[in-house]
Amino acid sequence: MKLEDIKKVGVVGGGTMGFGIAINFALWGYPAIMSDVSNEILEQSKKRTKAAITLFVEEGLITRQQADDTIRRITTTTDLAKVAANSDFITEAIVERSEDKRELLNKLDELCPPHTIFASNPSFLVLSDFGSDVKRQDKIVLTHYFAPPHIVPGVEVAKGPGTSDEIFNITYDLMKKIRKVPIRVLKELPGYLIDRIQSAMGRDASRLWAEGVATAEDIELRIKSTFGFRMPHEGPMMHYDLAGIWKWPLDVRTRQRASGKGPEISAEAAEKIKQRMIQGKPWFVDPEKFDEAIEKRDREYLRRLKELYWSKEK
Ligand SMILES: NC(=O)c1ccc[n+]([C@@H]2O[C@H](COP(=O)([O-])OP(=O)(O)OC[C@H]3O[C@@H](n4cnc5c(N)ncnc54)[C@H](O)[C@@H]3O)[C@@H](O)[C@H]2O)c1
Repeated sequence: MKLEDIKKVGVVGGGTMGFGIAINFALWGYPAIMSDVSNEILEQSKKRTKAAITLFVEEGLITRQQADDTIRRITTTTDLAKVAANSDFITEAIVERSEDKRELLNKLDELCPPHTIFASNPSFLVLSDFGSDVKRQDKIVLTHYFAPPHIVPGVEVAKGPGTSDEIFNITYDLMKKIRKVPIRVLKELPGYLIDRIQSAMGRDASRLWAEGVATAEDIELRIKSTFGFRMPHEGPMMHYDLAGIWKWPLDVRTRQRASGKGPEISAEAAEKIKQRMIQGKPWFVDPEKFDEAIEKRDREYLRRLKELYWSKEK
Protein backbone atom coordinates (compact mmCIF):
# COMPACT_ATOMS: atom_id res chain seq x y z
CA MET A 1 0.00 0.00 0.00
CA LYS A 2 1.11 3.56 -0.74
CA LEU A 3 0.13 6.95 0.62
CA GLU A 4 -1.58 7.73 -2.70
CA ASP A 5 -3.91 4.76 -2.16
CA ILE A 6 -5.57 6.69 0.66
CA LYS A 7 -8.21 8.69 -1.17
CA LYS A 8 -10.98 9.03 1.39
CA VAL A 9 -11.13 8.89 5.16
CA GLY A 10 -13.58 8.12 7.95
CA VAL A 11 -13.84 9.44 11.49
CA VAL A 12 -15.88 7.59 14.11
CA GLY A 13 -17.00 9.84 16.97
CA GLY A 14 -17.93 13.44 16.24
CA GLY A 15 -17.17 14.92 19.67
CA THR A 16 -14.47 17.34 20.83
CA MET A 17 -11.75 15.51 18.92
CA GLY A 18 -13.63 13.82 16.07
CA PHE A 19 -14.99 16.86 14.27
CA GLY A 20 -11.59 18.59 14.44
CA ILE A 21 -9.82 15.49 13.11
CA ALA A 22 -12.28 15.41 10.18
CA ILE A 23 -11.52 19.08 9.46
CA ASN A 24 -7.78 18.34 9.19
CA PHE A 25 -8.36 15.82 6.42
CA ALA A 26 -11.10 17.74 4.59
CA LEU A 27 -9.06 20.95 4.61
CA TRP A 28 -6.35 19.24 2.56
CA GLY A 29 -8.64 17.59 0.04
CA TYR A 30 -9.80 14.30 1.56
CA PRO A 31 -13.51 13.46 1.52
CA ALA A 32 -14.24 12.66 5.18
CA ILE A 33 -17.23 10.71 6.43
CA MET A 34 -17.91 11.20 10.13
CA SER A 35 -20.17 9.01 12.26
CA ASP A 36 -21.63 9.13 15.72
CA VAL A 37 -24.40 7.39 17.63
CA SER A 38 -27.19 9.88 16.82
CA ASN A 39 -28.18 12.50 14.27
CA GLU A 40 -28.59 15.07 17.06
CA ILE A 41 -24.92 14.69 17.97
CA LEU A 42 -23.91 14.89 14.33
CA GLU A 43 -25.93 18.10 13.87
CA GLN A 44 -23.96 19.55 16.77
CA SER A 45 -20.69 18.34 15.18
CA LYS A 46 -21.63 20.04 11.91
CA LYS A 47 -22.31 23.31 13.73
CA ARG A 48 -18.97 23.11 15.50
CA THR A 49 -17.24 22.31 12.20
CA LYS A 50 -18.71 25.39 10.51
CA ALA A 51 -17.80 27.63 13.45
CA ALA A 52 -14.23 26.27 13.54
CA ILE A 53 -13.72 26.71 9.79
CA THR A 54 -15.13 30.25 9.92
CA LEU A 55 -12.39 31.18 12.39
CA PHE A 56 -9.76 29.93 9.92
CA VAL A 57 -11.22 32.35 7.34
CA GLU A 58 -11.53 35.24 9.80
CA GLU A 59 -7.94 34.78 10.93
CA GLY A 60 -6.75 34.76 7.31
CA LEU A 61 -5.51 31.14 7.06
CA ILE A 62 -7.87 30.09 4.27
CA THR A 63 -10.26 31.72 1.80
CA ARG A 64 -14.06 31.53 1.96
CA GLN A 65 -13.90 29.22 -1.06
CA GLN A 66 -11.51 26.83 0.75
CA ALA A 67 -13.81 26.90 3.75
CA ASP A 68 -16.86 26.02 1.63
CA ASP A 69 -14.93 23.20 -0.07
CA THR A 70 -13.80 21.85 3.31
CA ILE A 71 -17.32 21.81 4.71
CA ARG A 72 -18.63 20.16 1.54
CA ARG A 73 -16.08 17.35 1.85
CA ILE A 74 -17.36 16.36 5.32
CA THR A 75 -20.44 14.12 5.30
CA THR A 76 -22.08 12.46 8.29
CA THR A 77 -23.87 9.21 9.04
CA THR A 78 -24.99 7.06 11.94
CA ASP A 79 -24.36 3.94 9.85
CA LEU A 80 -20.94 2.42 10.48
CA ALA A 81 -21.23 0.33 7.31
CA LYS A 82 -21.22 3.54 5.28
CA VAL A 83 -18.01 4.66 6.98
CA ALA A 84 -16.48 1.27 6.24
CA ALA A 85 -17.50 1.41 2.58
CA ASN A 86 -16.19 4.93 2.03
CA SER A 87 -12.84 5.06 3.82
CA ASP A 88 -9.30 3.90 3.20
CA PHE A 89 -8.15 5.29 6.55
CA ILE A 90 -10.47 5.44 9.59
CA THR A 91 -9.72 7.34 12.78
CA GLU A 92 -11.69 6.40 15.86
CA ALA A 93 -12.28 9.17 18.38
CA ILE A 94 -14.96 7.65 20.60
CA VAL A 95 -15.05 7.51 24.41
CA GLU A 96 -11.90 6.50 26.32
CA ARG A 97 -13.16 3.04 27.35
CA SER A 98 -11.23 0.02 26.21
CA GLU A 99 -14.32 -2.20 25.85
CA ASP A 100 -16.06 0.39 23.58
CA LYS A 101 -12.96 0.86 21.45
CA ARG A 102 -12.47 -2.92 21.26
CA GLU A 103 -16.06 -3.49 20.13
CA LEU A 104 -15.85 -0.74 17.53
CA LEU A 105 -12.57 -1.91 16.02
CA ASN A 106 -13.78 -5.50 15.85
CA LYS A 107 -16.94 -4.34 14.03
CA LEU A 108 -14.90 -2.27 11.61
CA ASP A 109 -12.60 -5.23 11.04
CA GLU A 110 -15.60 -7.22 9.79
CA LEU A 111 -17.11 -4.41 7.73
CA CYS A 112 -14.05 -2.90 6.03
CA PRO A 113 -12.19 -4.12 2.97
CA PRO A 114 -8.82 -5.66 3.81
CA HIS A 115 -6.73 -2.62 2.86
CA THR A 116 -8.40 -0.16 5.29
CA ILE A 117 -6.13 1.26 7.97
CA PHE A 118 -7.48 1.90 11.48
CA ALA A 119 -6.05 4.78 13.50
CA SER A 120 -7.02 5.23 17.11
CA ASN A 121 -6.93 8.49 19.05
CA PRO A 122 -7.01 7.60 22.74
CA SER A 123 -5.55 9.72 25.54
CA PHE A 124 -3.90 7.09 27.71
CA LEU A 125 -4.92 3.67 26.42
CA VAL A 126 -2.51 1.88 24.12
CA LEU A 127 -3.39 -0.44 21.23
CA SER A 128 -2.63 -3.53 23.33
CA ASP A 129 -5.47 -2.49 25.69
CA PHE A 130 -8.20 -2.78 23.07
CA GLY A 131 -6.87 -3.77 19.64
CA SER A 132 -5.65 -7.32 20.19
CA ASP A 133 -8.69 -9.04 18.55
CA VAL A 134 -8.40 -7.11 15.31
CA LYS A 135 -7.28 -9.45 12.56
CA ARG A 136 -5.43 -6.83 10.53
CA GLN A 137 -2.82 -6.31 13.29
CA ASP A 138 -0.40 -4.80 10.78
CA LYS A 139 -2.92 -2.09 9.89
CA ILE A 140 -3.80 -0.58 13.26
CA VAL A 141 -1.87 2.41 14.44
CA LEU A 142 -2.25 5.13 17.00
CA THR A 143 -2.54 8.82 16.10
CA HIS A 144 -2.72 11.01 19.17
CA TYR A 145 -3.96 14.53 18.44
CA PHE A 146 -4.02 17.44 20.87
CA ALA A 147 -7.09 19.58 21.46
CA PRO A 148 -8.12 21.49 19.48
CA PRO A 149 -6.97 18.92 16.94
CA HIS A 150 -7.67 21.06 13.87
CA ILE A 151 -5.31 23.75 15.24
CA VAL A 152 -2.55 22.19 17.37
CA PRO A 153 0.03 20.92 14.85
CA GLY A 154 1.69 18.04 16.75
CA VAL A 155 0.31 14.49 16.44
CA GLU A 156 1.99 11.52 18.07
CA VAL A 157 2.14 8.46 15.84
CA ALA A 158 2.65 5.24 17.79
CA LYS A 159 2.81 1.58 16.89
CA GLY A 160 0.94 -1.27 18.46
CA PRO A 161 2.57 -4.68 18.89
CA GLY A 162 1.65 -5.74 15.32
CA THR A 163 1.75 -2.46 13.36
CA SER A 164 3.90 -2.87 10.27
CA ASP A 165 6.64 -0.40 9.40
CA GLU A 166 4.84 0.21 6.12
CA ILE A 167 1.61 1.34 7.80
CA PHE A 168 3.47 3.32 10.46
CA ASN A 169 5.38 5.21 7.74
CA ILE A 170 2.28 5.77 5.60
CA THR A 171 0.48 7.20 8.63
CA TYR A 172 3.44 9.44 9.41
CA ASP A 173 3.46 10.70 5.80
CA LEU A 174 -0.30 11.15 5.82
CA MET A 175 -0.03 13.41 8.87
CA LYS A 176 2.55 15.48 6.99
CA LYS A 177 0.29 15.65 3.96
CA ILE A 178 -2.49 17.19 6.06
CA ARG A 179 0.08 19.70 7.42
CA LYS A 180 0.34 18.24 10.90
CA VAL A 181 3.67 17.80 12.68
CA PRO A 182 3.95 14.04 13.29
CA ILE A 183 6.05 12.81 16.20
CA ARG A 184 7.19 9.17 16.20
CA VAL A 185 6.69 7.29 19.46
CA LEU A 186 9.00 4.31 19.22
CA LYS A 187 7.82 2.24 22.17
CA GLU A 188 4.27 1.47 23.32
CA LEU A 189 3.75 3.19 26.66
CA PRO A 190 0.66 4.60 28.41
CA GLY A 191 0.39 8.36 28.01
CA TYR A 192 2.80 8.11 25.04
CA LEU A 193 5.32 10.90 25.11
CA ILE A 194 3.77 14.32 25.44
CA ASP A 195 1.09 13.49 28.01
CA ARG A 196 3.79 12.07 30.28
CA ILE A 197 5.79 15.29 30.06
CA GLN A 198 2.66 17.41 30.46
CA SER A 199 1.46 15.31 33.40
CA ALA A 200 4.86 15.62 35.09
CA MET A 201 4.50 19.40 34.98
CA GLY A 202 0.84 19.23 36.01
CA ARG A 203 1.65 16.97 38.95
CA ASP A 204 4.40 19.17 40.33
CA ALA A 205 2.41 22.37 39.75
CA SER A 206 -0.56 20.84 41.62
CA ARG A 207 1.68 19.64 44.45
CA LEU A 208 3.30 23.07 44.87
CA TRP A 209 -0.13 24.69 44.99
CA ALA A 210 -1.58 22.11 47.42
CA GLU A 211 1.45 22.43 49.72
CA GLY A 212 0.99 26.22 49.78
CA VAL A 213 4.32 27.02 48.11
CA ALA A 214 2.67 29.43 45.66
CA THR A 215 -0.79 30.58 44.64
CA ALA A 216 -2.40 29.05 41.57
CA GLU A 217 -2.13 32.44 39.79
CA ASP A 218 1.59 32.71 40.54
CA ILE A 219 2.29 29.16 39.37
CA GLU A 220 0.42 29.86 36.13
CA LEU A 221 2.24 33.14 35.58
CA ARG A 222 5.61 31.66 36.43
CA ILE A 223 5.27 28.88 33.89
CA LYS A 224 3.93 31.13 31.12
CA SER A 225 6.55 33.84 31.68
CA THR A 226 9.59 31.55 32.02
CA PHE A 227 9.95 28.26 30.22
CA GLY A 228 6.51 28.63 28.61
CA PHE A 229 7.82 31.86 27.09
CA ARG A 230 10.77 30.00 25.57
CA MET A 231 8.88 26.90 24.45
CA PRO A 232 7.79 27.89 20.92
CA HIS A 233 11.49 28.22 20.08
CA GLU A 234 13.22 25.60 22.19
CA GLY A 235 12.11 22.46 23.91
CA PRO A 236 14.07 20.92 26.79
CA MET A 237 16.56 19.13 24.53
CA MET A 238 17.66 22.19 22.59
CA HIS A 239 17.65 24.14 25.84
CA TYR A 240 20.50 22.00 27.18
CA ASP A 241 22.53 22.97 24.14
CA LEU A 242 21.86 26.69 24.28
CA ALA A 243 21.72 27.25 28.04
CA GLY A 244 24.34 24.78 29.25
CA ILE A 245 24.64 21.05 28.81
CA TRP A 246 26.13 20.79 32.31
CA LYS A 247 22.61 21.39 33.65
CA TRP A 248 21.31 18.19 32.20
CA PRO A 249 22.32 15.47 34.71
CA LEU A 250 21.84 18.03 37.46
CA ASP A 251 18.22 18.56 36.40
CA VAL A 252 17.65 14.82 36.44
CA ARG A 253 19.10 14.46 39.95
CA THR A 254 17.27 17.51 41.30
CA ARG A 255 14.06 16.24 39.85
CA GLN A 256 14.63 12.82 41.38
CA ARG A 257 15.10 14.40 44.80
CA ALA A 258 12.35 17.02 44.47
CA SER A 259 9.52 15.07 42.91
CA GLY A 260 9.77 12.11 45.24
CA LYS A 261 6.71 10.32 44.00
CA GLY A 262 7.39 10.94 40.31
CA PRO A 263 8.43 8.21 37.90
CA GLU A 264 11.95 7.18 38.85
CA ILE A 265 14.71 7.55 36.33
CA SER A 266 16.67 4.33 36.25
CA ALA A 267 20.37 4.38 37.12
CA GLU A 268 21.01 3.19 33.56
CA ALA A 269 19.10 6.11 32.01
CA ALA A 270 20.76 8.61 34.39
CA GLU A 271 24.19 7.24 33.39
CA LYS A 272 23.31 7.54 29.68
CA ILE A 273 22.43 11.21 30.23
CA LYS A 274 25.66 11.80 32.15
CA GLN A 275 27.76 10.18 29.43
CA ARG A 276 26.04 12.22 26.71
CA MET A 277 26.72 15.36 28.76
CA ILE A 278 30.43 14.44 29.06
CA GLN A 279 30.62 14.21 25.25
CA GLY A 280 29.54 17.87 25.31
CA LYS A 281 28.05 19.92 22.52
CA PRO A 282 26.74 19.90 19.89
CA TRP A 283 23.49 18.44 20.85
CA PHE A 284 21.21 20.34 18.48
CA VAL A 285 23.18 23.31 17.24
CA ASP A 286 26.14 23.32 14.84
CA PRO A 287 29.05 24.65 17.00
CA GLU A 288 30.21 26.74 14.00
CA LYS A 289 26.85 28.48 14.04
CA PHE A 290 26.40 28.79 17.77
CA ASP A 291 26.45 32.62 17.88
CA GLU A 292 24.03 32.72 14.96
CA ALA A 293 21.68 30.36 16.79
CA ILE A 294 21.81 32.53 19.90
CA GLU A 295 21.02 35.65 17.88
CA LYS A 296 18.13 33.93 16.12
CA ARG A 297 16.78 32.77 19.47
CA ASP A 298 17.08 36.19 21.07
CA ARG A 299 15.41 37.96 18.16
CA GLU A 300 12.48 35.60 18.41
CA TYR A 301 12.30 36.08 22.18
CA LEU A 302 12.42 39.86 21.80
CA ARG A 303 9.54 39.79 19.33
CA ARG A 304 7.53 37.71 21.78
CA LEU A 305 8.54 39.93 24.70
CA LYS A 306 7.31 42.97 22.79
CA GLU A 307 4.06 41.31 21.80
CA LEU A 308 3.18 39.75 25.14
CA TYR A 309 4.73 41.84 27.88
CA TRP A 310 6.57 44.99 26.79
CA SER A 311 3.70 47.36 26.16
CA LYS A 312 1.48 45.96 28.87
CA GLU A 313 0.85 48.22 31.81
CA LYS A 314 2.59 46.96 34.87
N1 LIG B 1 -10.52 15.89 24.53
C1 LIG B 1 -9.19 15.86 24.49
O1 LIG B 1 -8.49 16.82 24.85
C2 LIG B 1 -8.50 14.63 23.95
C3 LIG B 1 -7.16 14.72 23.54
C4 LIG B 1 -6.54 13.59 22.99
C5 LIG B 1 -7.23 12.40 22.89
N2 LIG B 1 -8.54 12.33 23.31
C6 LIG B 1 -9.25 11.07 23.16
O2 LIG B 1 -10.09 11.15 22.03
C7 LIG B 1 -11.22 10.30 22.20
C8 LIG B 1 -12.49 11.14 22.04
O3 LIG B 1 -12.48 12.15 23.02
P1 LIG B 1 -13.43 13.41 22.95
O4 LIG B 1 -12.85 14.40 23.90
O5 LIG B 1 -13.67 13.80 21.54
O6 LIG B 1 -14.77 12.80 23.57
P2 LIG B 1 -16.25 13.29 23.35
O7 LIG B 1 -17.04 12.68 24.45
O8 LIG B 1 -16.32 14.75 23.12
O9 LIG B 1 -16.67 12.58 21.97
C9 LIG B 1 -16.79 11.20 21.82
C10 LIG B 1 -17.88 10.96 20.81
O10 LIG B 1 -17.90 9.60 20.47
C11 LIG B 1 -19.24 9.20 20.33
N3 LIG B 1 -19.31 7.74 20.44
C12 LIG B 1 -19.21 6.98 21.54
N4 LIG B 1 -19.29 5.68 21.20
C13 LIG B 1 -19.43 5.63 19.86
C14 LIG B 1 -19.55 4.58 18.92
N5 LIG B 1 -19.52 3.31 19.30
N6 LIG B 1 -19.67 4.91 17.62
C15 LIG B 1 -19.68 6.19 17.22
N7 LIG B 1 -19.56 7.23 18.07
C16 LIG B 1 -19.44 6.94 19.38
C17 LIG B 1 -19.99 9.94 21.42
O11 LIG B 1 -21.37 10.02 21.15
C18 LIG B 1 -19.28 11.28 21.36
O12 LIG B 1 -19.93 12.20 20.49
C19 LIG B 1 -11.07 9.68 23.58
O13 LIG B 1 -10.45 8.43 23.47
C20 LIG B 1 -10.17 10.68 24.28
O14 LIG B 1 -9.50 10.15 25.39
C21 LIG B 1 -9.18 13.43 23.82
